Amino acid sequence: MNRKYRKTIIAGNWKMNKTASETAAFANEIKPMLPKNPGCEMLLCMPAVNIPAAQKAFKGSKIRIGAETMHYEASGAFTGEVAAGMLTDIGVKYVIIGHSERRQYYGETDLTVNKKVRAALDAGLTPIVCVGESLEQRELGVTDELLAYQVMTALSGVSSQELRHVVIAYEPIWAIGTGKTATSEQAQEVCGNIRTLLRKSNDARTARAVSILYGGSMNAKNAAELLRMPDIDGGLIGGASLKTADFVTIIEAAAAVEA
Ligand code: 13P
Repeated sequence: MNRKYRKTIIAGNWKMNKTASETAAFANEIKPMLPKNPGCEMLLCMPAVNIPAAQKAFKGSKIRIGAETMHYEASGAFTGEVAAGMLTDIGVKYVIIGHSERRQYYGETDLTVNKKVRAALDAGLTPIVCVGESLEQRELGVTDELLAYQVMTALSGVSSQELRHVVIAYEPIWAIGTGKTATSEQAQEVCGNIRTLLRKSNDARTARAVSILYGGSMNAKNAAELLRMPDIDGGLIGGASLKTADFVTIIEAAAAVEA
């Protein structure tokens, strides 16, 4: 990470876990455990239905509440969906877009991800755009090309000014929920390549201002090593963000880098 040029972000992705009451219990437990000045943005992304309860429960703490997905249209006949304006209206600032589970189970593609990034930025949200390769793609040796395609498609039509309000999360699919983390070298290599790509497609000042997170079995044990890497500006954490002690340890690991 590099705090001089960009934000460090420790973000949880709760996926389809915890009820509103469990969320409140988690908030009450974690609040006294949080460092006073973590030096990073702390965020928990959760199912939209639980966001208002979470905002209430986390009041007085520095943890922000984000969403896990949104639709790209502003309104209309899209049963079950949530629009960007609905999120901003209740004070949400961050939204995860294009998580590999959304791509796998709900048919999201690089093109719909691009539409969602556009809609999020237009609404004033910060999209956390997820990209990553499968094990098969890594073994075929096409990781760099695939990631370049995913990133460039997601960001098509996004200006340099807007790019400063975009967060990218590199999440190798083979590392998600498997306990099999990318090594810090593997993760750094891809995150570094993404930054180089942003430098080429935009400019050096913009590229160095974009936070690039790593996600995929990041936990209390391996976080410090991953977060020490120069182009890894935080984590998008699934399983370990559901446990207060583990999430706090990861936040502390981020706080300790360059401290
Ligand atoms: P795990 O941390 O459970 O592997 O999940 C990572 C993830 O998908 C975060 O978005």
